[in-house]
Amino acid sequence: MANDQVEIVPTGAALGAEIRGIDLSKPISDDIFDAIEQAFDTHSVTYFRGQQLDEAQFQDFVCRFGEMQVNFLKRYTIKDRPLILQVSNIKENGEDIGHADAGRVWHSDMSYEWNPPRMSVLYAREVPVSEDGEIKGDTLFASAVQAYDSLSDKMKERCKGLKVVHDVAGRRRNTGTGTQDNAQREAMEKVVHPVIRTHPYTGKKAIYVNMGECVSIEGMKDEEALDLINELAATVIRPEFQYRHKWQVGDVLIWDNCALQHLAAHDFELPLRRMMWRISGCPTKVYE
Ligand code: SIN
Repeated sequence: MANDQVEIVPTGAALGAEIRGIDLSKPISDDIFDAIEQAFDTHSVTYFRGQQLDEAQFQDFVCRFGEMQVNFLKRYTIKDRPLILQVSNIKENGEDIGHADAGRVWHSDMSYEWNPPRMSVLYAREVPVSEDGEIKGDTLFASAVQAYDSLSDKMKERCKGLKVVHDVAGRRRNTGTGTQDNAQREAMEKVVHPVIRTHPYTGKKAIYVNMGECVSIEGMKDEEALDLINELAATVIRPEFQYRHKWQVGDVLIWDNCALQHLAAHDFELPLRRMMWRISGCPTKVYE
């Protein structure tokens, strides 16, 4: 593959397109890279099948988009590669070697930071397949932009100027979803972002409220705030706004944290193994 042509094939769902004709281990011209980035802004989820990359090749490709961010769960990064987080259920000597709880609740990556990442990238190294050949461990994506567009004018007006508190421990604490590293999560600062954000690259508006990590709204009583959070978050994940990705080993998939939320289907367990390498980055400003 000479990487001189790129083919963009939409999934047909609300989000997502496959990018064909590219070998990420080979050089990519600026023009082709621009086409990839444009497809990413258009489809919010883009993926390349059948890639064979080592750590350096994976990181080099992702870093071409900009500055990447180190996750606070540093213990699961690859040795001497602090940017590459292992998202995995694999254990060695009884210990987790990866972030096993990732994506148990709908969320937008690292929204608990003041400058959350524009994008996250997963590279599928091992994918769980059940005895009867069914692929497990899908990732679901939901368009927060289409969800915003679906809101009534009254609801859009109600959301104007509201700020929501993102707490990386909050919903886990309240719902018992996920146990890994909870003490470290509890110690983290809570962050406030607008309920509606304007996409820093496309200018589109999106709901920036998720089930996973939003706990309260500034200046609003708890009960009213939770009702509104739940209503907005439930709008984002309506089936018509979703794309469900079935992984194959060798997939490199990029998603847009400013435009969507995602959820990992934890529908398998050891001895079925899943190993993903993840890099997130391009810090963004969150504004209405
Ligand atoms: C994540 O939430 O970042 C991980 C998603 C996945 O493992 O499918």
